[in-house]
Amino acid sequence: MDRSLYALLGAPVHHSLSPALQNSAIDALGIDAVYVALWTWDDLVAPFMRSLPGGNVTLPHKRAAAAALDQPSEDVRATGACNVFWWDEDGGLCGDNTDSAAFRTAAEALLGGALSGRRVLLLGAGGAARAVVHACCGAGVDRVEILNRTRDRADELVGDLGAPPDVQVLEGGEAVGGETYDLIVNATSLGLDPTDPLPVEPESVQARALLDLVYGRDDTPLVRAARAAGIEAADGRLMLVEQAALSFMKWFDRDPPREVLLRAAGLVE
Ligand code: ATR
Repeated sequence: MDRSLYALLGAPVHHSLSPALQNSAIDALGIDAVYVALWTWDDLVAPFMRSLPGGNVTLPHKRAAAAALDQPSEDVRATGACNVFWWDEDGGLCGDNTDSAAFRTAAEALLGGALSGRRVLLLGAGGAARAVVHACCGAGVDRVEILNRTRDRADELVGDLGAPPDVQVLEGGEAVGGETYDLIVNATSLGLDPTDPLPVEPESVQARALLDLVYGRDDTPLVRAARAAGIEAADGRLMLVEQAALSFMKWFDRDPPREVLLRAAGLVE
């Protein structure tokens, strides 16, 4: 037997649900492969990518992965970051950044409809927030309002995108209570540590839905607080399922069973 090895390259990777998701789908379809998480140094990213048939890349190596590609996708060129790689028939190392596409699918699944015309409150202005803004602009949202601890960083994000008129930066501490949002997105890192405060008090904001990009093995404190406030909510596992499905299709050229992925993520019984 000649089992193929696929891997997630990152540091740290022990908290990742990707191996559970990918191996469940691989087993369900009887593919002769296995997916592992590898805690990797930056200078080993390119050699690992060149020795594997495919894999994923997470923090802090997405830039190093982009630099190692022969065939970067449009989204890799636009963001300078790569989170999935595979080989084409001519022996070229291909890579894509599926963060924006996975966010859009997860957000639309939560909203039960398209993102276009919606009003979004985005918390955070780091790499994850950039992918969200990119997706929102591409989807034709009505407006994205960004609230970040460091206002300058949010201004820089908007400036880098050419200051689109449908993206605005809110003053730190600005009351958002009077506004009504279709979707709140948490793209800060708050929630990764169980002792973190909530990035926003959901009952203080008028919103229909909340997507927390943070995930753990169970619902995050922000998702629980949002549901208690009557807001429909999902955590980063929903986006992870979309990432996993997009990656699986690149490697194995077929759709993974969605139910299997949702079950492995603990999102359905
Ligand atoms: P990522 O690439 O995952 O988005 P990042 O670039 O480190 O990670 O961004 C983390 C985000 O969480 C930033 O928006 C950060 O706010 P600052 O720009 O002010 O640093 C936000 N964040 C992290 N810790 C925070 C805290 N204690 N309170 C509020 N926001 C926080």
